[in-house]
Amino acid sequence: CSQDVGDGGTGGPSTIQKIIDRNKLIIGTSPGYFPFEMKDKQGVNVGYDMDLGKAIADALKVEVEFKDFEFSGLIPALQTGDIDMVISGMTIRGDRALAVSFSDPYYSSGQVVMVPKSDTTTKNWQDLDQTGKKIAVSQGTTGALLAKQLFKNAQIMDFDGFANAALAVKQNQADAVVFDEPGIAVYEIMNGDSVRGIYDILSSENLGIALPLNDHATIQWVNSFLASYRNGPADQASIQKWFKS
Ligand code: ARG
Repeated sequence: CSQDVGDGGTGGPSTIQKIIDRNKLIIGTSPGYFPFEMKDKQGVNVGYDMDLGKAIADALKVEVEFKDFEFSGLIPALQTGDIDMVISGMTIRGDRALAVSFSDPYYSSGQVVMVPKSDTTTKNWQDLDQTGKKIAVSQGTTGALLAKQLFKNAQIMDFDGFANAALAVKQNQADAVVFDEPGIAVYEIMNGDSVRGIYDILSSENLGIALPLNDHATIQWVNSFLASYRNGPADQASIQKWFKS
């Protein structure tokens, strides 16, 4: 069955070949998940995922372009071929893997809750599961999916992006937000006077690069790249820069 290897079954060139021929790697991302992807003062995307994307482009000796989407628009953009891959702190999940193929994990994450600082009594998510309580989530994320499963009595409020969901908590319009632990940890550092993270992991997750479905040449190249990049000197420097300072 050599015909379906590397072309996603389409008979065309693999994504990796297209990137090389075009001399450019086009990455889809959704800034607002600190410290993976965010805007610097000049409006340029920076973060751990951007370093990873640049390292992939360097290894292929091509340019890199980051295209911004709503998080829920990333998988559709990959399916239509608008982008070559998604690097956006995306959790590896079976339902998503029906539409895209995932690389091996490159980071471990987990879901936690954050409450307004004025709430001094909430100890865990169960304390929040009461009629009348409002739980903010970022639409299409695993935090949103988990909240809808966990909370039976509280009301779930969907927001476009973590920044808006977190703002609702900061402004006391929501009683909590459910999101990835690294994002909440950075948010708390920046807004420690108005919010409080509760760091019991509600669900462990692995982040992966999303690639076109069943494009085997591309999947195997990206996994080979990750095997040597992860914990190598460039990755160590990036971890140091974005997670330890
Ligand atoms: N890890 C979570 C998920 O996959 C949240 C990712 C949010 N990423 C972002 N760039 N806003 O659903």
